[in-house]
Amino acid sequence: MEYSRTTASPEDTEAFGGELVQDISPGTLLCLYGNLGSGKTTFVQGILAALGANRPFVSPTFVIMKQYELPTPSATGIQRVYHADAYRVETKDFRELGFAEWCADPEGLVILEWPERIADILPEKRIDITFRALTETKREITLEER
Ligand SMILES: Nc1ncnc2c1ncn2[C@@H]1O[C@H](COP(=O)(O)OP(=O)(O)OP(=O)(O)O)[C@@H](O)[C@H]1O
Ligand SMILES: [Mg+2]
Repeated sequence: MEYSRTTASPEDTEAFGGELVQDISPGTLLCLYGNLGSGKTTFVQGILAALGANRPFVSPTFVIMKQYELPTPSATGIQRVYHADAYRVETKDFRELGFAEWCADPEGLVILEWPERIADILPEKRIDITFRALTETKREITLEER
């Protein structure tokens, strides 16, 4: 399966994240690829808002991983979200932080920015989402289920 959509604003990208997560089951890993500023965190903020997660929604660039316990599970049964960013870490650090456990959480949704940094430990079963800046405000977002 491959699906592509172009968004015209940050709000549009957030809305797309919110729409997409309605069809995502717990236990899923979403890998978000794309350059700095291509819209990965913006997309995740839309997912978190749609799931009713408690704010603030911080970028995990510096905290590596932020976990959100949802006040109410999603319609598909997601009870928590692990939003992680591998930009500044090595595979070893990520493993020690518990990446495998997050992915094995049957009630969790794992969303990872900069997955290519830990390519050697990525599970095969995942959804890859690639962000490409077309202009200042347009982003092409492509989904591929592995
Ligand atoms: N259509 C769009 N979708 C998403 N973001 C957009 C769009 N148009 C403009 N932007 C801007 O692009 C930037 C995207 O930043 P964001 O933090 O989401 O990127 P990122 O991919 O997470 O970067 P990083 O790799 O540094 O974590 C924001 O400043 C946002 O306002
Ligand atoms: Mg980001």
